[in-house]
Amino acid sequence: MSQAMSHADLPESLNTLVSANMKERVAASFSAGAAAYDQMAGVQRQVAERLAMRIAATRPCPPDRILEIGCGTGLLSTHLAALYPQAELVLTDISPVMLERASLRLGARASYRRMDGEAPDPALGNFDLIASSLALQWFTDLRGGIARLADRLVPGGRLAFATLGAESFAEWRAAHETVGLRHGLHPYPPVERFPWPKHCAGTVEVETIRDHHTNGQAFARSLKQLGAGQPAPGHKPLPPAQFRRVLSQFQAGCTASYQVVYGMLRG
Ligand SMILES: C[S@@+](CC[C@H](N)C(=O)[O-])C[C@H]1O[C@@H](n2cnc3c(N)ncnc32)[C@H](O)[C@@H]1O
Repeated sequence: MSQAMSHADLPESLNTLVSANMKERVAASFSAGAAAYDQMAGVQRQVAERLAMRIAATRPCPPDRILEIGCGTGLLSTHLAALYPQAELVLTDISPVMLERASLRLGARASYRRMDGEAPDPALGNFDLIASSLALQWFTDLRGGIARLADRLVPGGRLAFATLGAESFAEWRAAHETVGLRHGLHPYPPVERFPWPKHCAGTVEVETIRDHHTNGQAFARSLKQLGAGQPAPGHKPLPPAQFRRVLSQFQAGCTASYQVVYGMLRG
């Protein structure tokens, strides 16, 4: 299988530039998808609900301050607001349009802040709970991003997230491999070697959710409509004839497996 270009192969200054550029594209892509997001987000809704159940099961006492990373339209935020009605809720996202959508849902119940979750603003202070559903897979440095989030926890606070593992979209990868072409999927971490920062002791649970589409085109379109169609850095879209060869693998329908990694870390 051919790999997307690795950030580790680039000089530091170029790496920073690629990363900043990538983030702008991710933000623009999610902003474009924000209006249709809720209609398309079946898997994301399930994951938000299951992450909320895990948070509720592991929190010994209600948090005073909650930070959410990559809140999107507020699917997880709604659960957090219901679970902890007294807590201060700070919702953040890299996409301003997603934040607007979240504010339509939660109104004055929360405060809103455009922020790259990989670089949390210390001025926001520390939190009892930092939560994030299906946003960390967009980080360019997952280990470093988790470490910086863990630094924003009060002693005994929790970081709870759902992200994607390496086996996600195995069917899409296999279809490309079969016809000898490159896919544009981001490299997700293998569950057994999850990139926990050195000083952090985290635990993971894994669940595979299968999403069915009528064909490959419908799957690709759904990612784009969600705003999640931004390919890995360095990937060039396939010319139409090559893309058709990939799509021809899905004549009987297209299953998209999401390997969801639920992570929990104590500060
Ligand atoms: C798949 S959506 C998930 C949204 C929401 N958490 C949910 O469960 O529906 C991913 C969200 O993460 C945001 N995002 C992507 N990269 C981010 C980053 N580096 N920092 C903060 N948010 C980011 C996107 O703008 C988008 O709103």
